Amino acid sequence: MKKISKDLLLGCSISANQAEGSWNIDGKGLSIAELRRYNPNLDRKDINTERKMTKEKLEEALKDDGTYIYPKKFGVDFYNRYKEDIKLIADMKNNCFRTSIAWTRIFPNGDEKEPNQKGLEFYDNLIDELIKNKIEPIITISHYEMPFNLVEKYGGWKNPILIDFYLNFARTVLERYKDKVKYWIPFNEINAANYSVWAGAGLRDDEHPQILGLSMVALNNIFIANAKTIKMGREISKSFQFGSMVATLLNYSENSNPELVLKTERDQQLKIYSFFDVLHRGEYSKFSLNLLNKFGIKLNISEDDKKILKENTCDFVGFSYYMSGVVNDLESELTEGNLAKTGKNSFLQENEWGWQIDPVGLRILMNRLYDRYQKPLFILENGIGFDEKLIDGQINDDYRIDYIKNHLLQIQNAIDDGVECIGYTAWSLMDIISHGTSEMTKRYGFIYVDQDNYGNGSKTRIPKKSYEWFKNVCENREI
Ligand code: BG6
Repeated sequence: MKKISKDLLLGCSISANQAEGSWNIDGKGLSIAELRRYNPNLDRKDINTERKMTKEKLEEALKDDGTYIYPKKFGVDFYNRYKEDIKLIADMKNNCFRTSIAWTRIFPNGDEKEPNQKGLEFYDNLIDELIKNKIEPIITISHYEMPFNLVEKYGGWKNPILIDFYLNFARTVLERYKDKVKYWIPFNEINAANYSVWAGAGLRDDEHPQILGLSMVALNNIFIANAKTIKMGREISKSFQFGSMVATLLNYSENSNPELVLKTERDQQLKIYSFFDVLHRGEYSKFSLNLLNKFGIKLNISEDDKKILKENTCDFVGFSYYMSGVVNDLESELTEGNLAKTGKNSFLQENEWGWQIDPVGLRILMNRLYDRYQKPLFILENGIGFDEKLIDGQINDDYRIDYIKNHLLQIQNAIDDGVECIGYTAWSLMDIISHGTSEMTKRYGFIYVDQDNYGNGSKTRIPKKSYEWFKNVCENREI
């Protein structure tokens, strides 16, 4: 038995676009998430290709003529069932809950001046319900769900005008919830703008295929929006805490050949530190600037923007961690991963989607991040997807218990190493629509949702075995 720190915020995480549904109800506009199809013929090991948005897929999605379905339109009905779901959170003894605010509920097209009152009312009720149940809300302002209109009319985040539209949205929610919400994450997995350009930046993958291409211009606009949000937020409330959120693509060197170790260092600078550096040190590292130069990318950051970036860094180091990978000489087989493919590690097991399970990697990462930024950490997403079927009305998900337990143990080990950690929100509360494949089969929840890939089913919530286990951990602070 190991004791888990009593001060740790412990709970679950979801996003609006994967859970709420009701995509065109109460004035909500169309978001880019709802244009991501479910492809029943997809080869499981091919998620990274499926994730890409092309001209053809987009045209097809806008027609929505029944050839494919678009599950983020119906989600898992969190919009109507949030009270029931919050009751389950409270009964699980979680003391926090992370979700996002759908931009398109508040500003359906993104470029309106005035917010949609009906959309705000939904989040008023949701946040009040959390507080009533003594659950700390942790709010992501933008989680892969920007208004499609901002893509169609303005070209997505490569256009700096989006900074103003985003700030209008952010100001609306920061002011409205200033006495209710303390923890804010301006952008989910900010590095997605480089790896999953549709979700992260509203750019079509076939137009922006290259990492370190125009997506960097988009990312720079997102960084500036992030810093301006923090500046604005600090004027609104002194108690706000702003978090970064980076998908940490941890990679090891496949062997101790110094050349490969050096390549791994570069890989990690590119995939992890180059994002955190801007968010926590307030400037691009020399490494990033050299690389951008090499690729001929000019960012044109004004002196004012440099100052804004420098003066408005995040308060805590937030990140998602699902797996680790390997940097190799390109000869060995690659496996799927969160946002990008990676090399296989023969010491690790993987789930059905090829994601390699590595709890110790989380401790390594936490130590590295804390050493580098000296700010408290928050693990905002961590979990494992499985294809699960009810047997005798139950899901005995011992594999999930093992996964979460082993990661929590390593978090506590990292805390014992001296790392400061604010909290842990597991992905996810209940089964929701997969971000990458829009399927329901890839289930991450502590709570089973009776719904198939096509949206059929009663949507009844059935706590899995892991629900009881996590409840115990939250209550007794012991694993
Ligand atoms: C993270 C995202 O990258 O991974 C979540 O922030 C997502 O939105 C999670 O659901 C798991 O990915 P997937 O594709 O398996 O749902």
